[in-house]
Amino acid sequence: MINRCILQIALLLCFSTTALSMSYNSLQIQLWHGSLTCAKLLLQLNGTTEDCLNERINFKVPKEIKEPQQLQKEDTTLVIFEMLNNIFDIFRKNFSSTGWNETLVENLLGETHLQIHHLKSKINKKVTLESIRMNLRLKSYYWRIMDYLETKQYSNCAWKIVQLEIFRNFSFIIMLIDYL
Ligand SMILES: *[C@@H]1O[C@H](CO)[C@@H](O)[C@H](O)[C@H]1NC(C)=O
Ligand SMILES: *[C@@H]1O[C@H](CO)[C@@H](O)[C@H](O)[C@H]1NC(C)=O
Ligand SMILES: *[C@@H]1O[C@H](CO)[C@@H](O)[C@H](O)[C@H]1NC(C)=O
Ligand SMILES: *[C@@H]1O[C@H](CO)[C@@H](O)[C@H](O)[C@H]1NC(C)=O
Repeated sequence: MINRCILQIALLLCFSTTALSMSYNSLQIQLWHGSLTCAKLLLQLNGTTEDCLNERINFKVPKEIKEPQQLQKEDTTLVIFEMLNNIFDIFRKNFSSTGWNETLVENLLGETHLQIHHLKSKINKKVTLESIRMNLRLKSYYWRIMDYLETKQYSNCAWKIVQLEIFRNFSFIIMLIDYL
């Protein structure tokens, strides 16, 4: 089930590849390549096989994030920045139960960190009340993911669920880059 889902998203990702606009600036292109690499690395993380259907959970994505066309350009930068920072923190947790290739996870962390670095200078220093509120909601979303992992004691199944969620996050980030 999870594998079939990943396949569908992978196909979607391929189509979005062909849609890459020629008018992208260099930050957009860097982010786009980085996020695509991360999504591919997540797909390659195939460790211990186990049926994890029962472990599924809704992490409740903040409403604003579901409607990126409502976001201001500056907020979009901040959203991607926060997402990448949290993803970086998640994959530094203990994944020894999964049998994942450590080199792949290190590459994932490296790519994520590089994108964070590219974005850092573009973050708007003027924080609005709206962006603070959005940031808090985003943080709670990732807090729920981390709490889930901890509660499940970083089990193989819990990691698989999180892997899929983060994979979808990268597909989402790739879409968000359009709004930068
Ligand atoms: C894991 O994925 C890689 C590349 O995606 C593939 O070459 C390999 O055979 C897979 N390994 C297992 C155990 O499924
Ligand atoms: C990671 O978890 C495993 C058990 O799943 C444990 O044996 C190991 O000590 C943990 N590593 C760290 C660094 O906490
Ligand atoms: C882990 O992945 C790296 C990079 O793809 C590869 O070179 C290496 O052989 C893999 N290690 C194992 C144990 O599969
Ligand atoms: C993470 O992935 C889910 C699943 O597709 C997606 O709905 C959500 O928007 C992503 N989370 C964030 C914070 O964008």
